[in-house]
Amino acid sequence: MEIRSIRGMNDILPEDSILWKHVRDTMHRVLARYGFREILIPVLEETRLFQRGIGETTDIVEKEMYTFEDRSGQSLTLRPEATASIVRAYVQHHLYTSGKVEKFYFWGPMFRYERPQKGRYRQFYQIDVEAFGSNDPSLDTDVIASLYDFLAALRVPGVTIEINSLGCPKCRPGYHQALKAYFSDKQVKLCPDCKSRLVRNPLRILDCKVETCHALAMNAPNIHEFLCDTCKTHFRGVRGYLEDLRIPTRLNPMMVRGLDYYVQTTFEAVSENLGAQNAVAGGGRYDGLVRQLGGPDIPGIGYAMGMERLVMILKEAGEEPMEWPCDLFIATLGKDARRFGITLAAKIRKTGKVCEFSYEPKSLKALMKLANRLNARFTAIIGEDEMREQKIVLRNMETREQVTLPMDDSLPEMIVVSLDNADDSRSTQRPPFPSSFPEKSSR
Ligand code: HAM
Repeated sequence: MEIRSIRGMNDILPEDSILWKHVRDTMHRVLARYGFREILIPVLEETRLFQRGIGETTDIVEKEMYTFEDRSGQSLTLRPEATASIVRAYVQHHLYTSGKVEKFYFWGPMFRYERPQKGRYRQFYQIDVEAFGSNDPSLDTDVIASLYDFLAALRVPGVTIEINSLGCPKCRPGYHQALKAYFSDKQVKLCPDCKSRLVRNPLRILDCKVETCHALAMNAPNIHEFLCDTCKTHFRGVRGYLEDLRIPTRLNPMMVRGLDYYVQTTFEAVSENLGAQNAVAGGGRYDGLVRQLGGPDIPGIGYAMGMERLVMILKEAGEEPMEWPCDLFIATLGKDARRFGITLAAKIRKTGKVCEFSYEPKSLKALMKLANRLNARFTAIIGEDEMREQKIVLRNMETREQVTLPMDDSLPEMIVVSLDNADDSRSTQRPPFPSSFPEKSSR
C-alpha cells in the first residue's frame, strides 16, 4: 500500500524549491545588511519552554502543540515557533554578556496542529528574526525596516505593514478591565472561545474571526486611550522613525497577535492576495520574556515570516516558473566516450559550472531530447567518431550553433570560454531566479 505524507505536512518539490532558495538567498543578503547573524536551534524543546514562553492561554499551547514523552518520560514538544527557543539559547549561552544589541535570524520548519487549509499547514516554514538588548524605538524601526526591505527585495506586491501598541504590564490591566466591562453584558452573543477569553484574556476577543464577535469588537474600547505615557512616547517614536524612512504603515488598534509575550509595538505584514490567512509575517516587542525564561531583564523584539505564504504570493504575482540551471550536458556514445566524458564533467564542475552527464546509454536523438529536458544551455557530444578524431562537438542548445574543439588539455577551458561568451538567454552568469532583481527603491 502506498504511504502518503501526513495531513498538513507537505513536500516541497524541486520545481518550487528553487523559488524557496531564492527567498532564502534574499534573506541572507538583506538581513546581513542589518547585522543579523544566523542561529540554528533544535526542532525539539522541553514542553515547559513553550508553555511558559508563549503563554498557557494561547491557542498554540492549549490546542496546537505536538507534545509527547520520550523514552525517559520527559515531555518534549516540536517547536511551534522559534522565539521561545532563541530566547532560551540567548539565556543559556549568556549571549547578553556581549555588551551589544544581539541580532539573530533563523529559518526552519515549525509544527502546529491546526486545521489545514490554503496558507495554513501543520508543518510550515518560518524565517524568524530576533533582536535583544534595547527598548529604544530605533530598534523597533530597524527590525520593521528589515522586514519591509526583505519584502521589497522580493518584489512582493500588495503588502501593508499594520502596526499597533499593546501597552505594558503597567497600562494593560486597565485596558483589560475596560474590555471586560464592555463585553460582559454582550456575553450571550460571543462564541464559546470568546466567552472563555473574556475571563482569561479579553484582548484576544478583538481578533476573533467569528462574525458576531468581530462586529461587537468593532465598537470596543480602543487600546490607545489606555496606553501609559511611556508606551505612548515609545509608539510615537517608532511611528516617527518609520515615517522618516518612508515605510508605509497602517495603524490597526484591533491587531492583538496570538502569542502572550507581546508588549508595546506589534506589527504584521498583510497581503490582500492571501485571503483569510492574510498575514505573511507578524511580530512585536517582548520585553520581559528573557527574564521570564530565566535570564536578566533584557528587552527584545522580532518577527516571523511564513515561507509558504510568501512563495504563494510570489507565484500568484506571476513570477516566472524557474528552472534549476544546467550549463553543460555531456552526451556520450560508447564506452570510451563515457570514460573520457566522466573526467571532463569533473573538470568542468571544478570551474563552478553546472554539468550533467549521460548516465544511461542512449541514441544521439534520445540524448538531445534529454539535454532539452535538463534545460542544458550547451551539450558536449562525444561519440565514437569524436574519440577517433580526438575532438568534441559543442552545441549551443538555443541557437543550435556547433563548434568543434580539440580533445587536448585546453578542452575544459575552451568549453568554459564558449559558455561565458555565449549570448543565450539562459546564461547562468545570471542567477537562475533573478536574485539580482533591481530592488524597489521605494524610499
Ligand atoms: P505567528 O504570527 O504565530 O508569530 O507566525 C508568524 C507567521 O508564520 C504568520 O504570519 C504566518 O505567515 C506563518 N504561519 C503561522 N502559522 C502558520 C501555519 N499554520 N501555516 C502556515 N504559515 C503559518 C510567531 O510565530 C512569532 N514567533 C513571531 C515573532 C518573532 N514574534 C517575535 N519574534
